[in-house]
Amino acid sequence: MDISLKGRSFLTLMDYSPEEIRYLLNLSHQVKKERKEGTFHQRFLGKTIALIFEKRSTRTRCAFETAFGEEGGCPVFLSIDDIQLGKKESVEDTARVLGRMFDAIQFRGFSQKTVEVLAEYSGVPVYNGLTDVYHPTQILADLLTVEEEFGSLKGRKICFVGDGRNNVANSLMIGCAKMGVHFTVLAPAALYPEQGLVDQSRVFAERSGADISVSSDIDKAMDGVDAVYTDVWVSMGEEDKLKERMDLLTPFRVTQELMERTHKEESIFLHCLPAVKGNEVTFDVIEGPSSRVFDEAENRKHTIKALMVATL
Ligand code: CP
Ligand code: NVA
Repeated sequence: MDISLKGRSFLTLMDYSPEEIRYLLNLSHQVKKERKEGTFHQRFLGKTIALIFEKRSTRTRCAFETAFGEEGGCPVFLSIDDIQLGKKESVEDTARVLGRMFDAIQFRGFSQKTVEVLAEYSGVPVYNGLTDVYHPTQILADLLTVEEEFGSLKGRKICFVGDGRNNVANSLMIGCAKMGVHFTVLAPAALYPEQGLVDQSRVFAERSGADISVSSDIDKAMDGVDAVYTDVWVSMGEEDKLKERMDLLTPFRVTQELMERTHKEESIFLHCLPAVKGNEVTFDVIEGPSSRVFDEAENRKHTIKALMVATL
């Protein structure tokens, strides 16, 4: 099948077909290989990208800046503290101005609506670098990491343990459903994902053969899992919920003992990072031989580069 993603925004994995995600993953393997071999291209020569950040970031910002710069492009970091967006100027107007000056826009912030409006009004590809509900570029890196580890995605099993309704869990569920990866959210009932999203993911999963489930039963959820994934207990913007989350999530901490309940020696541990070691994961697991968190972090760059090469 001929796939062209030129001019497309990347706001949620919902909008991408399994074939398009496959295309992005294949391109990610390719750009990673090129970089390791020292083959350099200038695919973004003369291009500019605006990187808007309402929330903090290390990986996403550095992935966009280095990937774009390596290809000859000029990334411009725009902190929300410095620009007019949403304060003195509407998102619609900012979008139209940036669309006149830049070839693409990355947005990280609170509302999914903001990234949608930027895409609608700017006329250039817009990439979602994380909102309260989705973190789609993260999932490209996660899928690449699993594929590198096991050689394939279809039929593999990923379990997300913890705050099952956060942006990473939501996007991971969609990505797994589309790519034929069996996916379980292991969480206390109070932190289950929205039923509407589970239902929608199950529709995608019908086509791919993935099994999508939500459970509080540790033994049932962990059995046979290839990749155990967790994330912080409180996401950016929810800092006031820490006490409540500690109470709810302490039984779901990823410990060595929990890892062993996969009954698979080759199971790996994933985390989007940054991590709060000792909360959602113990030090021995994240620093141990099963952990692939730094490969996963590196893969943010290769997948983000591939996404921009495909869409620009
Ligand atoms: N995983 C991730 O998005 O990291 P940053 O918050 O550092 O960008
Ligand atoms: N769920 C986390 C992800 C950080 C990359 C957050 O939103 O803070």
